[in-house]
Amino acid sequence: MKADILLGLQWGDEGKGKIVDVLTPRYDIIARFQGGPNAGHTIIFDNKKFILHTIPSGIFNENTTNIVGNGVIIDPFIFNKEIEKLKASGINAVNNLLLSKKAHLILPTHRLLDAAYESAKGKAKIGSTLKGIGPTYTDKTARNGIRIGNILRDDFLQQYKSLKEKHLQILKAYSFNADDHDLDGIKFKEYEEKWFDAIEQLKIIQIIDSEYFINQSLNAGKSLLAEGAQGTMLDVDFGTYPYVTSSNTVTAGVCTGLGISPHRVGDVLGIFKAYCTRVGSGPFPTELLNDQGQKLRDEGHEYGSTTGRPRRCGWLDLVALKYSIMINGVTKLYMMKADVLNEFDTISVGTKYLHQGRELDYVPFEASYEQLIPELTHLRGWKTNINEIRNHSDIPEALANYVKFIEEQTHVPLDMISVGPDRNQIIPMH
Ligand code: GDP
Ligand code: IMO
Ligand code: MG
Repeated sequence: MKADILLGLQWGDEGKGKIVDVLTPRYDIIARFQGGPNAGHTIIFDNKKFILHTIPSGIFNENTTNIVGNGVIIDPFIFNKEIEKLKASGINAVNNLLLSKKAHLILPTHRLLDAAYESAKGKAKIGSTLKGIGPTYTDKTARNGIRIGNILRDDFLQQYKSLKEKHLQILKAYSFNADDHDLDGIKFKEYEEKWFDAIEQLKIIQIIDSEYFINQSLNAGKSLLAEGAQGTMLDVDFGTYPYVTSSNTVTAGVCTGLGISPHRVGDVLGIFKAYCTRVGSGPFPTELLNDQGQKLRDEGHEYGSTTGRPRRCGWLDLVALKYSIMINGVTKLYMMKADVLNEFDTISVGTKYLHQGRELDYVPFEASYEQLIPELTHLRGWKTNINEIRNHSDIPEALANYVKFIEEQTHVPLDMISVGPDRNQIIPMH
C-alpha cells in the first residue's frame, strides 16, 4: 500500500485535526511526522471537544493504530497531560499508540531557550508558541539531542544533565535565570520534577523502531495517513522564513519524518480555509486589518488552540495556495470553515501580488521582507446558512461558483467542504 498524506496549505490551523478524524475509519494507521506541541488539532463530536498537541488525531477510533514518528519532538510533560485528559473522557490512548525511538525530547531548558531567544529578538520576534520547538530541532541538527529511545538506557540521566548544563551556559549569556521563569504557570524546578515523572509514564507506551513498523505494515497491505502539523507557509525551507517553524511541514517531511520512500507516497490531501489566518508574526499579504478581518475572527472563533492568541485574518490567498499545492503535489483539496463566510455579501480572493509596481503570480523571495499588495477578485457571497447541508447537490449557487473558481485556478479537485466544527458537518463533493 501507499501512504497518503494530509497537510495544511496555509499558516496552520486549517482544520487538519477535524479531517484526519473524519477520514480515520478509512485508515489502519495515522502517523504524525513532524512538529510537536506547537500544534493544536481540534476534534469535536458528540458535543465533546478535544485539542490534541502531539497525539495523532486518529486516537478516537479504537481500530486505528496511532504513531508518533521519528520526525516529531515530544515534551513528556505535555504529552502525559494529553493522555490524562483523554483518559478522563474515557479514552484509553495508551492502547493504540506507538512512539518512535528516534523522536527527540523537548527538555524544560529547551523551552527556556525558546523564551530567551524570542525576548532577545525584540520587535523581530517570531511569535513562537514557546514550546521549545526551535531549540529542540536545533539540538537535533547540531547532534546534541536526546531521543525517546534514550530514556530506556542507563546513561539517560547523564545525557540529560550534560545537555541541561549546555543550555544553562547559553541562558547565562542571555542573562536568563531558569529559576525566575514559569513554564505553563509552573516554576522551573517543579516543572522539571513533573517532566521526569512524565518520562516514567512514557515507558508505559510502546516505544518502537517506527520506520520498520511502518514499512512492514505497508508491505502487509495496511493503509496509512500521515498527519501534518502547522502549514506549508510555516515550512522551514518554503515558508515565509524566518517567520516559520523549525521543521519541514511539507510532503517531503513525511519521507524523513516517518522513513517512507517517495515511491510509497499516494494521495496528498491539502487542507485550506475558505479564507486565511495566521498566528504569530510575519508577512500575510491578504490580511484584513479592518472590520471585515474582525468579522472573520468573530465568526470563525479565530483564537489559537495552543496559545489562545487572536489569529490574524484575511482573504484566501490563491497565489500562496497554488505555491503550496506545487510544493506538496496535492491531489485533493479540502476546504474548511466555508460556513464562516455565510454572512458576507462579497467574498474576495487574492489572485496576484503587486510588488514594486510589478504584477506577480508567484511567491517571490522578497515576500519575507517586503510588503506585497494583493490584487483581489470579488465573488458573490451565498448569504445563507450552509451549516446543515450534507449533500453537494444542495449547496447554494454562489458557493458552487466559489468552488468552481478555486478548482479552475488550482487544477485540483475539491473532495470535501467543511461547514462547521463538528465531525458530521461535512459535504462530500463526489
Ligand atoms: P488544525 O490545527 O489544522 O487541526 O486546526 P485547529 O484545530 O487549530 O483550528 C481549527 C478550528 O476551526 C478549530 O476550532 C475547529 O473546531 C474549527 N473548525 C474546523 N472545521 C470547521 C468548519 O468547517 N467550520 C467552523 N466554523 N469551524 C471549524
Ligand atoms: P497547527 O498544527 C498555527 C506558528 C507560531 C509562530 C511560528 C513558530 O495547530 O496548525 P514555533 O512554536 O513552531 O517555533 O512557532 O509558527 N505556529 C503555528 N501556527 N498553527 C500551528 O500548528 C502552529 N505551530 C506553530 O505561531 O508564528
Ligand atoms: Mg491548530
